[in-house]
Amino acid sequence: MTVVLRTIPEARRWVRTERTSSGALGLVPTMGSFHEGHLSLIRRARQICDRTIVSIFVNPLQFAPGEDYESYPRDFDRDLSLATQEGVDAVFHPEAGEMYPSGLVTSVGVGKLGEALCGASRPGHFQGVATVVAKLFHIVQPDRAFFGQKDAQQALIIRTMVLNLNWPLQIEVCPTVREPDGVAYSSRNRRLSAEERSRATVLYRSLRLAESLIQSGERNVACVEQQMQKQIQKMIHAVPGAEIDYARLVDPATLGGLQQIRGEVLAAVAVRFGKTRLIDNLSIKIAPERQARG
Ligand code: PAF
Repeated sequence: MTVVLRTIPEARRWVRTERTSSGALGLVPTMGSFHEGHLSLIRRARQICDRTIVSIFVNPLQFAPGEDYESYPRDFDRDLSLATQEGVDAVFHPEAGEMYPSGLVTSVGVGKLGEALCGASRPGHFQGVATVVAKLFHIVQPDRAFFGQKDAQQALIIRTMVLNLNWPLQIEVCPTVREPDGVAYSSRNRRLSAEERSRATVLYRSLRLAESLIQSGERNVACVEQQMQKQIQKMIHAVPGAEIDYARLVDPATLGGLQQIRGEVLAAVAVRFGKTRLIDNLSIKIAPERQARG
């Protein structure tokens, strides 16, 4: 039976009574509207933790005015029944007023990591994410927390926060789960028209293009980025309201631009379909150049 906790004191009480001395408590923070990506995080948590708690909270702090906070998909009853099927021990589902009673003056700054990639077009977004995740970590005090690689920038920011603030918990980043045509699962996919959904395959295709160019020896960053942009543009130019936000190769540790392609690079894309913005990324590992034989 999955317990539903709606207030912070209820959540704290549950944690106090359920935390066992030997087993780990796992937290899967979500904004609900579950898809296969969420379920994979929940399954991983269940596999390695003794107790699993899932938070479902659409966090107003990470949406700018004019973004899709109001229209963000919400379906608590469906989420709860999926959580129950998956054997989740508890769901923490607070109201916005419970998490932000008024007078929030303290927040978690995320520096330059929050300004790169998605941060450029969503100023303040990652500060909002880090702040709510910090609150959830304080409320639940998990031993492990689970995030998806699809949100690579978010995962890096949270890992950095945990490291910088000496939080005694482990962050596990789980692989991106994709639909059969390669599109990464996202709660926002359901808002696409049929035409947009079919065009959305270009995000992953452009990442695979970057990978194949690099693996076949291309070492010019601008050239790879241009090829990605060209491929996306070709696919979306006829779709009204569709535009590229970014298609980049970045350093996976800093999210900064690259001088050269070597070691590991992160290919990352974001495309807008009207008000719906989709993101995806791929980590590309480059084999060390073979030594020239003498
Ligand atoms: O990835 C999400 O769904 C959200 O950004 C998170 C981590 C639950 C914080 O609101």
